[in-house]
Amino acid sequence: MCGIVGYIGHRNVVDILVKGLQSLEYRGYDSAGIAVVDYPEDKNSIKAPAVHIVKGVGKVADLKSMLDSSPVSGRQGIGHTRWATHGGVTEVNAHPHSDLSSKLVLVHNGIVENYRELRAELAAPAESYKSETDTEVIAQLLSTLYTKYGGEERPAMIEALVALHKRLRGSFALVIMAKDIPGKIYCLRKGSPLVVGFSGEGEALCASDVPAILPYTQDVVYLDDGDIAELSAEGMRFWNASGEEFEKNHVHIDWDVSMVDKGGYPHFMLKEINEQGAVLRSSMAKRLAEEGTVDLSAELPWTKEEACAWKRIHIVACGTSYYASLVAERFLETITDLDIRVDVASEYRYRNFPVGPDTLAVFVSQSGETADTLAAERLAKARGARCLAVTNVIGSTLAREVDDILQLKAGPEIGVAATKTFMGQMAVLYLLSLYIAKLRETLTGDYERTIGREMLALPYKVESILQQQEKIQKLAVLHSEARDFLFLGRGNSFPVALEGALKLKEISYIHAEAYAAGEMKHGPIALLDPRVPVVVVSPKDDLHEKTFSNILEAKARKAPVIAIASEGDASLDSTADNIFHVPVTLPLLSPFLTVTPLQLFAYYVAKILGCDIDQPRNLAKSVTVE
Ligand code: G6P
Repeated sequence: MCGIVGYIGHRNVVDILVKGLQSLEYRGYDSAGIAVVDYPEDKNSIKAPAVHIVKGVGKVADLKSMLDSSPVSGRQGIGHTRWATHGGVTEVNAHPHSDLSSKLVLVHNGIVENYRELRAELAAPAESYKSETDTEVIAQLLSTLYTKYGGEERPAMIEALVALHKRLRGSFALVIMAKDIPGKIYCLRKGSPLVVGFSGEGEALCASDVPAILPYTQDVVYLDDGDIAELSAEGMRFWNASGEEFEKNHVHIDWDVSMVDKGGYPHFMLKEINEQGAVLRSSMAKRLAEEGTVDLSAELPWTKEEACAWKRIHIVACGTSYYASLVAERFLETITDLDIRVDVASEYRYRNFPVGPDTLAVFVSQSGETADTLAAERLAKARGARCLAVTNVIGSTLAREVDDILQLKAGPEIGVAATKTFMGQMAVLYLLSLYIAKLRETLTGDYERTIGREMLALPYKVESILQQQEKIQKLAVLHSEARDFLFLGRGNSFPVALEGALKLKEISYIHAEAYAAGEMKHGPIALLDPRVPVVVVSPKDDLHEKTFSNILEAKARKAPVIAIASEGDASLDSTADNIFHVPVTLPLLSPFLTVTPLQLFAYYVAKILGCDIDQPRNLAKSVTVE
């Protein structure tokens, strides 16, 4: 939901802003822009600083072409890549925006809910605004406040930002430059993420997410709600929402720049699918011992008594994270005695479940910034639940708000369609389930070790699937002309079918529906004919025979069947049209293996169709608005 970046230092800012925006493009990609301030070298010069704003519809690459043909330069600037909310995708609505007298320029991520009320209150006539955005109103309000404050106690801009924070409702991350404050960039955050860093070489940066900052420093500061930051070549200063200056802690990010690079792959998505063996290893490292025993006590300071006092577990998430949670639900209900509820965050936050101190509430979010998941977490926390975040981003808002954190350790995921983080989420949720079962003594040591040892073998098995990508590519060629797909699975293969269908529709725009296989005859069977391929996730497990009946039902309607089956299982050979075999594992662990061919299938179909795989239309990786 929009990516923002700012830089101040000794280098020409344009390249830095463009690269930063490219690394944040997963957040939004319908328009992009930068503002660069070119101050006279001589501080005593009376020449007014020039502010160059270059913006337009399209991707950052389009912005770069504009900048190549009409170059601008300066040592300080801000940039934005947009995912439209207020106002259509037009050049005028693209950020940065100025106030009406062009005193300041700013970029914004988020939504200001009371912008209409504020616009009516500001003296300027409605027609003087150029855009339809809430952002332009913020610029005008800030400009008015800035003019009002004299800055006796604090710098006038800090006074103005404290006042602005009180006036705006909604969520916002703002990065601001004022014409008459050369050498400074200001940041204000409420709700939408903002991280700042100082390179030690007189360079200060801010961004919506760390990939834009990583090339300059791995030590960053995450702003909290109400925080104001002032960046300059001398360093960073912070004020809280009451305008008191304070120090903030730095966080060291153990990601490096090469991780935000395609590494020779044509797309981030393909790179990330291929990293899944490594992701499994790193998410299990130091948590699962060689003999298969799990220990999370270094990260979760829970006692046996606490764990035994829980009556229920709620797992709450959105999108792919929700499907990983559904897989975990089936595992948890097998090995624990808890009452388990899994829900999408946008529903959970408005429902009325019993939730209280007897509840462990687990929030699963790759980014840790998803608005609905955060709202659900705040609700559960307010009712006294113990809140745990399963997230990939250690400094994220979710991670900072909960009682406990389990990090995925999947490395940055840039492709908008989540793949390797789904794998990491399943691994971490399985370890969590085992640990809870162990604390509550609902699992024997032998069973724990059997599952644990088999989990340790999963990375090799995933890698053996990845070595057979050509087979999936051929399947994609065979079926890329279909306009509708049905995905089916039972038990823990049902959420895998959901995830497979989601991947296909997200990146290839083909209509794909997933159903619990047993439900097919209650409706979706009406869709079946030779033009509707049915992808059946059918590893060898207790439900295999039942799923086989559903395959026969699909075949009887002449629908082509693609089966994901276990190695050595010949029972589908004469029935399914195409079969992809995955290595044998414990039935409880099959989702780790059956999902990988589906991710690859979606990737290759989208590639054949010429879709924009890493940045599919209308989607954003991090959904920071409700
Ligand atoms: C968006 C993304 C999905 C993601 C979902 C939840 O819809 O496009 O890929 O699964 O948000 O994101 P989270 O960061 O909370 O896991």
